[in-house]
Amino acid sequence: MAATKGKLCVTGAGGYLGSWVVQLLLSKGYSVHGTVREPADAKYAHLSKLEKASDNLKLFKADLLDYNSLYSAVEGCSGVFHVASPVPSITVPNPEVELMDPAVKGTLNVLEVCAQVKVKRVVVVSSGAAVSMNPSWPKGKVMDESCWSNEEYCTSTKNWYCLSKTKAESQAFEYAKQSGLDVVTVCPTLIWGPILQSTVNASSMALIKLLKGYETVENKFRLVVDVRDVAEALLLAYEKPEAEGRYICSAHAVWTKDLVEKLRSIYPSFNYPKNFSEGGEEQKLSSEKLKRLGWRYRTLEETLIDSVERYHKTEILD
Ligand SMILES: NC(=O)c1ccc[n+]([C@@H]2O[C@H](COP(=O)([O-])OP(=O)(O)OC[C@H]3O[C@@H](n4cnc5c(N)ncnc54)[C@H](OP(=O)(O)O)[C@@H]3O)[C@@H](O)[C@H]2O)c1
Repeated sequence: MAATKGKLCVTGAGGYLGSWVVQLLLSKGYSVHGTVREPADAKYAHLSKLEKASDNLKLFKADLLDYNSLYSAVEGCSGVFHVASPVPSITVPNPEVELMDPAVKGTLNVLEVCAQVKVKRVVVVSSGAAVSMNPSWPKGKVMDESCWSNEEYCTSTKNWYCLSKTKAESQAFEYAKQSGLDVVTVCPTLIWGPILQSTVNASSMALIKLLKGYETVENKFRLVVDVRDVAEALLLAYEKPEAEGRYICSAHAVWTKDLVEKLRSIYPSFNYPKNFSEGGEEQKLSSEKLKRLGWRYRTLEETLIDSVERYHKTEILD
């Protein structure tokens, strides 16, 4: 049956979050244009298996640095979810080319196409990384949407991913101001939850490594949110007429050591870390603004169980 709710574009449709956004939009009756870099690659096979994909999902080959390829994907769409951005699991040798360009120039390319095509609204996926790297924020004070990561601080600490997301988001708002394009951003913290794709993305790898990868691990403070709840937040940001500005999207705050104990109580036989080193400070981020838009989230237990069960099914843990 043909989609009735209109056509939306999702950039990075084959990635971890992108795949869940595509699934959610298809389930809600939208028709979806998804961008991927190599449509023939087997790593996107899961997309064509999604319910309603055969009728309502069309994949476009597009790179964030190629304006024309983006234009073909966005043309005819009333809204865009800009999800694509590099999320490296290791330090990249050339951050300018591998991270900054696709994140920052890529976002501006997407926005220019959206302005040209006159889409109704663009929802840009930013990150908690664009919020929390701010050493001048008062200690202990809850961070809200008025808190921005400090670009000089990200640069001096060589935190290129944080810098890429901070610049991309702030320039997106700058572009929105100049062009009149309706841009809303969502800033998720660490995303966990079941994977749809066959390859393991960087944030899921962080959970998998807690199950079997470390002898000693830093007792970091983690702010976790479920991938399915982030997809719902993005849809709210698109559908709610009153949505504006940025939205922090974070559900659970937990020290790594406590997280491991929680996992151990559910799954006693994994090879968990034996030692925990000192791991930094507690940070508090508020998702109250997103909750006022109607956002709800799952329990941490549900996120952890559904993640691990999916890893088992896809034999990632073997
Ligand atoms: N996972 C987290 O914990 C987390 C937290 C906060 C924010 N985010 C944000 O969420 C978004 C999705 O991340 P993810 O966790 O789902 O990671 P992911 O699975 O690695 O997805 C990244 C996506 O970006 C695409 N991409 C990268 N460079 C590109 C380029 N030059 N041109 C076109 N596409 C490009 C990739 O496309 P290909 O499939 O073609 O490689 C992939 O689909 C990102 O914006 C990320 O910053 C993630």
